[in-house]
Amino acid sequence: MTEKVRAPRNQTLDISGLDSEFLRRNSITLSCPTSPDVLRNKIINQDLFDCLDNLPDAFVDLMIIDPPYNLDKVYAGKKFSQTDDETYKEWVDSWLSRLIRLLKPDATVYICCDWQSSNVIHSVASKYLKIRSRITWEREKGRGSKDNWKNCSEDIWYCTVGKKYFFDVEAVKLMKRVIAPYRDGDGKPKDWSEKAEGKYRLTHPSNLWTDISIPFWSMPENTDHPTQKPEKLIAKLIVSSSKKGDMIFDPFMGSGTSCVTAKKLGRNYLGIEISEEYCKMAAARLIRAEDDKRIQGYSDGVFWERNSGAEQKNLNSKDKTEKRGGVV
Ligand SMILES: C[S@@+](CC[C@H](N)C(=O)[O-])C[C@H]1O[C@@H](n2cnc3c(N)ncnc32)[C@H](O)[C@@H]1O
Repeated sequence: MTEKVRAPRNQTLDISGLDSEFLRRNSITLSCPTSPDVLRNKIINQDLFDCLDNLPDAFVDLMIIDPPYNLDKVYAGKKFSQTDDETYKEWVDSWLSRLIRLLKPDATVYICCDWQSSNVIHSVASKYLKIRSRITWEREKGRGSKDNWKNCSEDIWYCTVGKKYFFDVEAVKLMKRVIAPYRDGDGKPKDWSEKAEGKYRLTHPSNLWTDISIPFWSMPENTDHPTQKPEKLIAKLIVSSSKKGDMIFDPFMGSGTSCVTAKKLGRNYLGIEISEEYCKMAAARLIRAEDDKRIQGYSDGVFWERNSGAEQKNLNSKDKTEKRGGVV
């Protein structure tokens, strides 16, 4: 096998030196019913359908679900094939119906999808959960099309088990550059403040997110997973819908973004992933997160708009070892 040659500034995670012993030490498989204590801060390397029945009842505060979309996609050599809506719906129902048991009565669930699978996810989710909103987020990257609109958005369905749920709107406000920096009669800034990066205002979060950057090769969070979610995107779900110490569960963990982000934000996590390769990525990222709590675009407990000075500062910072007990 020829080794990949990376550009000097390429920070993509390299797992080529991680063997099966590393995987064995850093992941588990379930063969019998298992208690929440044993599952805390673990990654399970197994087919979801083979371990689901061994997970306990009502132990999850926040479930973040990023399933394969209804598209042709290869995950670690395993092809997921696009199918008709009805077949995809049956597949979604086959796991969502069984995941509900794991949720606490005041739990929240977020389910990721694209425009083609959004209606199917809504229809299945509304059978088991209360739908509260649909977040649409802009993907900067994406191929242009000659005969269609370029696809550069994705959806996330925001659902809760019941009427009682946790939502911290203050924690997820967005810091935006001020276009018209008005001052009051005394000349003091009205609702904005002067930062090193410019004039900014903290604004109410909406369900349309244009502040997200997809991981790319010069970002430390980047891996070779084909559909890796940005840590900032997941951080917004976590800080708005969970408290420190809560249990975050991701049944389609991939490269581990939700577990890593949960760890950086002082939450507990559990992830399930069928691929050994992706579990190695997740485990390596989790080890790195012990010393590096940075989340690009989230600093001083605030989410910054895309390409703001603060986001760049975080991206360029090489200091990965400094412990900050929070985010930078
Ligand atoms: C959309 S990706 C998740 C990406 C993830 N959010 C990240 O940031 O890396 C879906 C993942 O589900 C995994 N998967 C598919 N079927 C599975 C199954 N039956 N059990 C466990 N994992 C599965 C795939 O290998 C893939 O990594």
